[in-house]
Amino acid sequence: MSEDRREPEERRRSDVRLRIEELREQIRHHQYRYYVEDDPEVSDAEYDELVRELEKLETEFPEFVTPDSPTQRVGGQVSELFAPVEHRTPMLSLDNAFTWDELSEWGRRVERAVGRAGDFVCELKIDGVAVALTYEDGRYIRGATRGDGYTGEDITANIRTVGGAPMRLRGEHSGVLEVRGEVYLPVKAFEEMNRELQEAGGRAFANPRNAAAGSLRQKDPGVTARRPLRLWVHGLGWADGRRFSRHSEALDHLREAGLPVNPDNAVLDSLEEVFAFCEKWQEGRHDVDYEIDGVVVKVDQISLQEELGATAKAPRWAIAYKFPPEERTTLLRGIFTHTGRTGKVTPFAQLEPVFVGGVTVTTATLHNESEVARKDVRPGDHVIVRRAGDVIPEVVGPVMQKRKRGARRWKFPKECPSCGTPLVREESEADWRCPNREGCPSQNIEWLFHFAGRGAMDIEHLGYKTGMALMDRGWVADPADVYFITEEQLAELPGFKEKSIGNLLGAIEGSKDRPIWRLLVGLNIRHVGTTVARMLTRAFPSTERLAAAKMEEIEAVEGIGPEIARSVHEWFRRPESKRLLKKLRKAGVRMEDPEPGGPTPDGPLAGKRVVLTGGLESMSRDEATKAAEAAGARVTSSVSKSTDFVVAGTDPGSKYDKAVSLGVEIIDEEEFRRRLGL
Ligand code: IVH
Repeated sequence: MSEDRREPEERRRSDVRLRIEELREQIRHHQYRYYVEDDPEVSDAEYDELVRELEKLETEFPEFVTPDSPTQRVGGQVSELFAPVEHRTPMLSLDNAFTWDELSEWGRRVERAVGRAGDFVCELKIDGVAVALTYEDGRYIRGATRGDGYTGEDITANIRTVGGAPMRLRGEHSGVLEVRGEVYLPVKAFEEMNRELQEAGGRAFANPRNAAAGSLRQKDPGVTARRPLRLWVHGLGWADGRRFSRHSEALDHLREAGLPVNPDNAVLDSLEEVFAFCEKWQEGRHDVDYEIDGVVVKVDQISLQEELGATAKAPRWAIAYKFPPEERTTLLRGIFTHTGRTGKVTPFAQLEPVFVGGVTVTTATLHNESEVARKDVRPGDHVIVRRAGDVIPEVVGPVMQKRKRGARRWKFPKECPSCGTPLVREESEADWRCPNREGCPSQNIEWLFHFAGRGAMDIEHLGYKTGMALMDRGWVADPADVYFITEEQLAELPGFKEKSIGNLLGAIEGSKDRPIWRLLVGLNIRHVGTTVARMLTRAFPSTERLAAAKMEEIEAVEGIGPEIARSVHEWFRRPESKRLLKKLRKAGVRMEDPEPGGPTPDGPLAGKRVVLTGGLESMSRDEATKAAEAAGARVTSSVSKSTDFVVAGTDPGSKYDKAVSLGVEIIDEEEFRRRLGL
């Protein structure tokens, strides 16, 4: 392999990558100030500006999106469903090495810093979902996602269904043991699951990692249980009364305790061997039945790890060597266009199927007209196709030596590929659009799919196939019609039986009660994604109020600029929008948020962090949580130094002891009720 894979034309990409890293660093810093220190340095609007810039760059360069990017968790990530869990020690991320140079530089830095060579543990980098599992006296008590690294979500019940996650450890264990690992979905199971989902008319997942994440975030653990999730454990978060001298020793201990530790890990004593390990797995990455996107190299001796320390973001004693994106050549059968939900027309490559990056690729986006021109790919060319991990496949460019004589440049169509309407393009924009908003079949099906999608109304079992069948029969013209579908109609669709009919109708019914930011996202208003929708609904907690708002009032919302405000204002004034909202209201879809904006900023417990432990006499745990939240508190499930007070009921658990040891205030039920104002 060459020492440096960067080609000259990739310079911009490398600049963008740096900027992305910088933005992430800043965003993480501000999240830390906000969430952990409770002492923000910047206004919400300034913070949102950073997030928006990052989102924009990541949309343009999807290959740089990483699971730990702040965009992957802001807005809607700390979900409505799962209680926050503070991690005992932060779940850090890893620095990446993309070339051999970067890897050996890290190795040299380590050796320089500690003055001698240590041993290294090499582990496969699992492309899954980071989790923390806590055991108390050997019993499983809690599972949590990584969240922002400091606060995750409680997924205790769902983790119970993960294959290989023991509920009780082998041997004698006292006190708390918290292990960290990765939940993943084996590739074969993923493919099978997607096939089943699609056959049932539901929505497929883009890749195994998304599928694993989606499965872990199910409200009903029964659904999670049907997904064959697995776990690899790769480290410790906390171990009461245990000291290990080596990481490998800790891993052995975990394995003996019955936790799944990857048998392909290796302890190596030189950088040469580390390179050989990385090279071997780069070649053999598809030899295992789960996705790996690199090798994690860790300094083995804990004493050296401590000497090296960590930055706010990642330890200095570990690095992730990331595999380069896989590339293959294949035949470009043709270039076609597709009209999306906003009317934007996107060209894409139709390819001779090619296996790359662990999946078979048949199409790849070409983004827009100028991108096709820049790459100069022509139908009939042999082209290089690249796919990195979960990233959407990309056509890199043509293999010029193989170009046939007379190969013609491709021309962008003048008309919409779906409805034939002449396309339009604003001068300042790169994209052609189909202006036929209401009558274009492609825009409508894409809108329906978006409306039902996981980021919007989240209607499970409503995928393309079912959506298309409903539209073809004329039963559904816009998303609101979905709420008027009958059992009899579904029974006419091929493949629909009693159970699948029940599932779909149940999912449709269930979606009526979503928070209204989800509805707003689903309405397909230009520039309104999750973040904007949340900002808007915080200020206008009902569609009626938003519809009545003047331009200036919308623009006055922090983080909303004039372009977004204009787009929102205009949308609510269109007659077809009014008709749609009326239909949604008639269907019984929730149009306002009962508890606007979450915690009451001026409630009696405003800004307090509260932990509940033990049973209460006068209310259930659920009621107590709701009451505390309504009073403005944040209820977390573990005690830390930043906890304001612990409410101890009868038979309090280990949280009580933790509170005592940290000197956190402990109050009883009576005092709790008093503070709630009850
Ligand atoms: S160690 C402080 N080991 O990769 C060390 N992480 O890109 C933290 N990951 O957040 C992580 N396989 O979710 C470690 N063998 C492995 C891993 C691994 C996958 C994930 C992990 C981390 C992410 C960083």
